[in-house]
Amino acid sequence: MMFTELRNKFLFLNMSITSLVIIVAFVIIYSVIYHNISSDIEEKLSEGAATEMTVYGDDLFNNGGKDAAFSLSQALSTSGFSSFVLIVNDQGEVVEIDSSMELPEEKYIKIAETAWKMKEKSNITFNDKQWKFEITPLSVNVIQDNGEKFEVTDRLYQMTFLDVTEMDQTLQSLLVTLFVVGFILLVIIFFISMYFANSAVQPIAKAWENQKQFIADASHELKTPLSIIQANYDVLMDNRDETINHQMKWLGYMKMATDRMTKMIMNLLELAQLDQPTTRLEMKEIHISSMVEEMVLTMEAAMKEKEIHITHSIEPEIMLNSNSDKIKQLVMILLDNAHKYTNEKGKIDITLEKDKKMIVFRVRNTGKGIAEEDLSKIFNRFYRGDRSRHIEQNSFGLGLSIAKSITSELGGEIHASSKENNWTTFTVMLPRV
Ligand SMILES: Nc1ncnc2c1ncn2[C@@H]1O[C@H](COP(=O)(O)OP(=O)(O)O)[C@@H](O)[C@H]1O
Ligand SMILES: [Mg+2]
Repeated sequence: MMFTELRNKFLFLNMSITSLVIIVAFVIIYSVIYHNISSDIEEKLSEGAATEMTVYGDDLFNNGGKDAAFSLSQALSTSGFSSFVLIVNDQGEVVEIDSSMELPEEKYIKIAETAWKMKEKSNITFNDKQWKFEITPLSVNVIQDNGEKFEVTDRLYQMTFLDVTEMDQTLQSLLVTLFVVGFILLVIIFFISMYFANSAVQPIAKAWENQKQFIADASHELKTPLSIIQANYDVLMDNRDETINHQMKWLGYMKMATDRMTKMIMNLLELAQLDQPTTRLEMKEIHISSMVEEMVLTMEAAMKEKEIHITHSIEPEIMLNSNSDKIKQLVMILLDNAHKYTNEKGKIDITLEKDKKMIVFRVRNTGKGIAEEDLSKIFNRFYRGDRSRHIEQNSFGLGLSIAKSITSELGGEIHASSKENNWTTFTVMLPRV
């Protein structure tokens, strides 16, 4: 079906946009948290780095810096077991270990070697944990025994190691969470989008179906009169020598068929015009009471042959701001139906009254009535209670659909109710202003 494709397009578009939004949001969330954690680590690392120290006696450096470092480390504060500090000389050789972890010295020597080579602040695995380190030169203020002071900045370096295992894990689980949540969100959004795409396409599909049905019905309706014309034309052609007077019967059939087609096409044009949202009806103050009364009186004459008994109660002096042509047409359609569908010797009752906001026009008639299940269909285009019966009459099943279009165009409502083999009632309510 062509609407599946349309729906899928909706769905695809919707999903692409939402996915994009989710991805962007999550990337932002992740980078903000990543950035926060990183700067946290950074801060901790530089907190741990003591860049200035004072030692007494420059001979402390003689022993590869070991003695100086030793006296330094007394002053260094190790910030808990999640970090440790190594002091190395300018060759990267460990001269002092300041750690609360009980590990063999070779391990520290090895990690210092690796870190010295890497130089950069980065991640390193040690003792089954993830560490971040920073190497900072130690500036040492040396006070000699003779009281002379000088500064040494290129002899000793401090390596601060920070345990970032937990932070790494946090980031990792954050990433996993984001992926899982993102995926679940997408699945949920998929179903919601599916629902909305379906309900967006449904009315289009329905309108399309209606349109197709309408064209099929209209073509079908036109076929009968056309074939009548065709057949009678053939008869005429077979009897070319006859006079027109003699052929009047066939010509009469042709005339009836064209009349029927003309009426139907007028009705269709009427509907098309009412469908057009641009046509604004010209509204005028009309005396609806006298208008309806006049039409009912005209009708009465036509009812005589079926011996229908008409009663009416029309409230006088009702004024209405509306379109008189459309009101006339509306009343005409309902009276015409009442006339057509009332049983012989049946009854028709017409009322017109007003309340505060509405004008209520009601036509009731006896007769076969409309079956419960057909009540919803009678306002559809081309719907007829009994197709075969009305072929000769001017019946296309368009009357009530025009009536409905007119009422909604005038801002009103039309309802039908019926009891089979009893009364059938059509009620039109129109707003007074
Ligand atoms: N007053 C009525 N009483 C009984 N049935 C009616 C009445 N008005 C309409 N109907 C039913 O509704 C159908 C649709 O009416 P309408 O749209 O006016 O078409 P048409 O009159 O051309 O058949 C009719 O064919 C008929 O079956
Ligand atoms: Mg009708």
